[in-house]
Amino acid sequence: MLTYLLVLCVLGDIAVPHSEAGCLKTKPGLYSKGGGRKTPTVAPSADGAQKIAKASNNFSQRLYREIALGSKNTIYSPLSIHTALSMTSLGAKGDTKTEMTSTLGLDVFTGEREPHQAYNDVIAQLNAASNVTTILTANAIFINKLETVESAFVRDVQNFYLSNVSTFDPHDPAGPERVINEYVEYKTRGLIQNLVQPNVVTALTLMVLVNTVYFNGSWDRPFDKDRTQPADFHTQQGTIQVDTMFDTRTMNIKRNFHGADVGELTIGHGRFSVVIVLPHTVDGLADLENALTVPGRVEELFQDLTPVRVNVSMPKVNIESTFMLSQPLIQLGMVKAFSPHEADFTGINRNGNIFIKEGFHQSTIEINEYGTVASAATAVVIEMRRQPPAANATFQVDHPFLFLLTDNRLRSILFQGKFIQP
Ligand SMILES: *[C@@H]1O[C@H](CO)[C@@H](O)[C@H](O)[C@H]1NC(C)=O
Ligand SMILES: *[C@@H]1O[C@H](CO)[C@@H](O)[C@H](O)[C@H]1NC(C)=O
Ligand SMILES: *[C@@H]1O[C@H](CO)[C@@H](O)[C@H](O)[C@H]1NC(C)=O
Ligand SMILES: *[C@@H]1O[C@H](CO)[C@@H](O)[C@H](O)[C@H]1NC(C)=O
Ligand SMILES: *[C@@H]1O[C@H](CO)[C@@H](O)[C@H](O)[C@H]1NC(C)=O
Ligand SMILES: *[C@@H]1O[C@H](CO)[C@@H](O)[C@H](O)[C@H]1NC(C)=O
Repeated sequence: MLTYLLVLCVLGDIAVPHSEAGCLKTKPGLYSKGGGRKTPTVAPSADGAQKIAKASNNFSQRLYREIALGSKNTIYSPLSIHTALSMTSLGAKGDTKTEMTSTLGLDVFTGEREPHQAYNDVIAQLNAASNVTTILTANAIFINKLETVESAFVRDVQNFYLSNVSTFDPHDPAGPERVINEYVEYKTRGLIQNLVQPNVVTALTLMVLVNTVYFNGSWDRPFDKDRTQPADFHTQQGTIQVDTMFDTRTMNIKRNFHGADVGELTIGHGRFSVVIVLPHTVDGLADLENALTVPGRVEELFQDLTPVRVNVSMPKVNIESTFMLSQPLIQLGMVKAFSPHEADFTGINRNGNIFIKEGFHQSTIEINEYGTVASAATAVVIEMRRQPPAANATFQVDHPFLFLLTDNRLRSILFQGKFIQP
C-alpha cells in the first residue's frame, strides 16, 4: 500500500474535487505563509460556498473512517457524494430530512433552501475554474418514464444543482441503467464506466440522482519524464520498486504535523493542489488517520507551509475505487432514508413509499509527470416500496377513433385527425 495520504484541494476557495482526507482552504488568511507563497492567493468564495466546503470536508473525515480505514489504496470524492446526497435531501421531509441534514453537516445553515442555494455557487465556482485547469462537475436526475416526480422537486434540482433532467426506460432491453452509465461515462470522459450494475435499476426504481466530477490539471511545474525511474518504496510487507518521479524544486512544506510531513504540488496557477501527507514511519499511516479524525484537524494541514528547496521524489499513482454507500451512511446516522417503511421522501413523490435503495460511488486518480487526472461519480437510487399497481382495466384501441397531437406546454393542438380503418 502507498504510505501517504493524497489530498487534492482548491486553494483559498471552495474545496475538494477529490481527496482521501478531504480538505479545505477557506480563509485567505490561512495562506499567508511568512515565507511568501509563489502562487497567487485566490479570492475567497461567497460565504455559503465556504460553508458547503466545510460541511463536505467534515463529512469526508467521518466517511473516511467508514470506508477507507482498510489497507488498500483508496480514492473517493467527498464532494461528489456530498452533492448527490444534498440534492436528494431536497425531497426529504421529517426525520429523514433531519438525519440527512445532520449527517451532511448542512445544519450549519439556517434557512431550509440556503444550503442548496450555496451549492449553486459551489458548482458555478468549480466549473468556472476551467480557465486554469479542466474541471467539470455535473448533476443529473433520471426519472422512470412510467412514473412521476413532484414538479417542485424537479424545478429545484434544475435551479440549485443545474441538474440535467431526463428519463430511463424501465423495460429497456439493454438494461434501464444503460442511459445512466452512458451519461456518467461521457461526463467523466470515459474514466468511469458501469457505475450502476445490471439489475439494480428495475421497474420499481423511481429515480436515479447522479453527480459526476472530472478533473484534469497539469502541474504548475511538471516532472521531467526522463528522470522517472524505478526506486524503492517501503511497505509494511517489504520494499518494492515503483516508477518514481524526481525533481529539484521549491515546494511548500510543513514538517512534523502529527508525526508526518506535508508537501504541496500545485496545479492551475495554484488554484488546485495535491497535498501529500507522509508519515515519518512506514507503519505511521494508521496513527495519522486517527489524528485527522479530530474535527477541524484536516484544515490545519494547509496552514503554515513554507517554501523549501527540496529534492522531491514521488511515485506515479494510479488508483480506482468503488463503494456502496448505504452501510457507511447508516453508520453515520442516515438511517431512515434507507428504510423502506420509515423513509419520508414525500418531497419527491407525495404518495411517499419511496426510499434510497443504494448509493454507488466510483472514483479514479492518476498522478504522473504531467499532472493529475481524476474522476468521480455518485448515483443515488430511489426505489418504490409498493409493487407497481396491477392493471385494473383495459384500454383496447380496436375500432375507429379520433386523435389529437398537442403541445402540452402551449396547450395547443398541433395535429388532429381520425382513424377509421387500416
Ligand atoms: C480564471 O477565472 C477566474 C474567475 O472568473 C478569475 O478570477 C481568474 O483570474 C482567472 N484565471 C486566469 C489564469 O485566467
Ligand atoms: C442530459 O442528459 C441526456 C441523457 O443522458 C443527454 O442526452 C444530454 O446530452 C444531457 N444534456 C446535457 C446538457 O448534459
Ligand atoms: C488531460 O489533459 C491533457 C491536456 O489537455 C490531455 O492531453 C490528456 O489526454 C488528458 N488526460 C485524460 C486522461 O483525459
Ligand atoms: C464536524 O461534524 C461533527 C459531527 O457532526 C461535529 O461535532 C463537529 O463539530 C464538526 N466539526 C467541524 C470542524 O465543523
Ligand atoms: C539533491 O540531489 C542532487 C542531485 O541528485 C544531489 O547532488 C544532492 O546531494 C541532493 N541533496 C539532498 C539534500 O539530498
Ligand atoms: C383499481 O380498482 C380498484 C377497485 O375498483 C380501485 O379502487 C382502484 O383505484 C383501481 N386502481 C387503479 C390504479 O385504477
